[in-house]
Amino acid sequence: MQKKWNNLSGKPLSSSDWLHEHHNAKLTERIEFIKKLLKNFRPKIIVDLGCGIGLWLEIIKDYVDKDCQLIGIDSDIDAINKAKKKSKKWNNNITFLQLDFIKDSKNIPTADLYLAFNILSYVKNENIFIENIRNKLNYNGKLVIRQYDGAAIRFGPMEHRLRINIENVLFNSIHNSQLFKHYNLDKAYLSLENSNFNHKIIQFELFQKTSPYSKEFLKYYQNTIKWTINYLSENMSKELQDWYNTYLENNNNSYFYEVDLVSILTR
Ligand SMILES: C[S@@+](CC[C@H](N)C(=O)[O-])C[C@H]1O[C@@H](n2cnc3c(N)ncnc32)[C@H](O)[C@@H]1O
Repeated sequence: MQKKWNNLSGKPLSSSDWLHEHHNAKLTERIEFIKKLLKNFRPKIIVDLGCGIGLWLEIIKDYVDKDCQLIGIDSDIDAINKAKKKSKKWNNNITFLQLDFIKDSKNIPTADLYLAFNILSYVKNENIFIENIRNKLNYNGKLVIRQYDGAAIRFGPMEHRLRINIENVLFNSIHNSQLFKHYNLDKAYLSLENSNFNHKIIQFELFQKTSPYSKEFLKYYQNTIKWTINYLSENMSKELQDWYNTYLENNNNSYFYEVDLVSILTR
């Protein structure tokens, strides 16, 4: 049985290994995103909701004013401890809080910028969550949301029959999961559209790679396929394992792309 990359509190795709490898695979793109976000916006307080081991804040610390306060929030104590350890060498004013951003929402500090990156998968009611955060924002403050969706990730080349079968089996295995919502982009989109923010930018961002891959990206790609194999029937997992061997072990030319929802909401 492969690992499911759950963190110690049981949240899928949230273990520190997974977050780290995912982050490293997309580091250049993530840095570009933060640079653009903070180019003409100088927040004094930034809160990263579901900060995990503090990887986004590690980027952000290099692009903010010296007096900007950084706060990372996560319910997982192990992630918070790792983030605290990592941030010891940073020169910024930084705090990591172990909080549940749903149950303890009244304890979330007010801020000029909230980040909600790949956390809507763990939120039961997106409308209430978004409205709660809107109420915590200072005047002209922003909530930035990034959200992946299991149906907006594609790897290949692959026979279409196999791709559709894999997608069907994966969907049937996890769409009823009580632990996370792997297919949440449309619900997220509707909640953003229906929210009370004054100004809304809702866009999609393409992340794409073609072989040959950097070792950081290859590791993430291999993990993504191994994670998928976990959920397949025996026959299908064998077929996907053969695909993995052909393209990700024996270096035949291949590609990967993913489309994320990216939204910037201003109060
Ligand atoms: C998939 S990870 C995303 C980490 C990071 N934002 C990123 O994009 O790399 C989701 C994180 O949200 C945290 N999380 C999920 N539900 C939470 C909640 N209700 N309160 C606080 N943290 C939560 C998990 O513990 C995990 O660290």
